[in-house]
Amino acid sequence: MGYKDQIDLSKLPKHIAVIMDGNGRWAKDKGKMRIFGHHSGVLSVRDVVEGAVDLDLKYLTLYTFSLENWNRPKLEVMAIMELMVSTIHKEIANFMKKNVKLNAIGDLDLLPKKCYDELMNAIDQTSGNTGLVLTLALSYSSRREILHAVKNIARKVQEGKLNVEDINEEVFEDNLFTKGMPNPELLIRTSGEFRISNYLLWQIAYAELYFTSKLWPDFRKEDLFEAILDYQKRERRFGMTSEQVN
Ligand code: IPE
Ligand code: IPE
Ligand code: MG
Repeated sequence: MGYKDQIDLSKLPKHIAVIMDGNGRWAKDKGKMRIFGHHSGVLSVRDVVEGAVDLDLKYLTLYTFSLENWNRPKLEVMAIMELMVSTIHKEIANFMKKNVKLNAIGDLDLLPKKCYDELMNAIDQTSGNTGLVLTLALSYSSRREILHAVKNIARKVQEGKLNVEDINEEVFEDNLFTKGMPNPELLIRTSGEFRISNYLLWQIAYAELYFTSKLWPDFRKEDLFEAILDYQKRERRFGMTSEQVN
């Protein structure tokens, strides 16, 4: 029996977040340029999105490019941006076929115009789709997102539209880029690194963390299913005792 058949569909996480890491090392292991790893990583993205659609998952959020990634060598950054433009363009038909709604979070205004336009076009074209919401975290920094929320809220207080006493978790979440999305129940990171790298810091407060040594270009939907199975075996206690939650 494959992993997929063992998944309890009634206990599926609503939202899975992924840190797609290890493209560079994957390429290096093969004696190739880092960008070759990024190209291969796109195949993993396609397969994992397909797996998410197969399961009827509601939200999948992929860490595609961090704000810190702008500090990489210019050539790599440019190649990644080019790859993004061509990939997003090519995938639109697939998104339409699979009823996938594309979304993006991050400091998108830092993207090259061509990339930004292609992204906005794809988001616009898929906006009526009602299946999986596929969010790309692009030029994304969780600390920036939190600061952005703080500034928004401060502005509302300053303008007299909000009382300080009324600031609560809901109000705060309404000012994050992920507004309207449930918090991820499961966070997957590939490539054997055990860190969060400035990803969804607020949102993953109670997420189950799943780390695999597989490099992202080797990750396939079967691996996603395996991670979900692992998640389903865990007991989520939210501060309570095991007796209380059972
Ligand atoms: C993840 O793979 C992709 C991006 C961060 C854009 P890396 O490029 O970080 O690959 P490693 O970690 O160097 O192997
Ligand atoms: C995190 O990966 C960002 C993405 C996966 C897009 P990095 O490879 O940039 O993370 P660090 O810098 O090694 O923590
Ligand atoms: Mg990396």
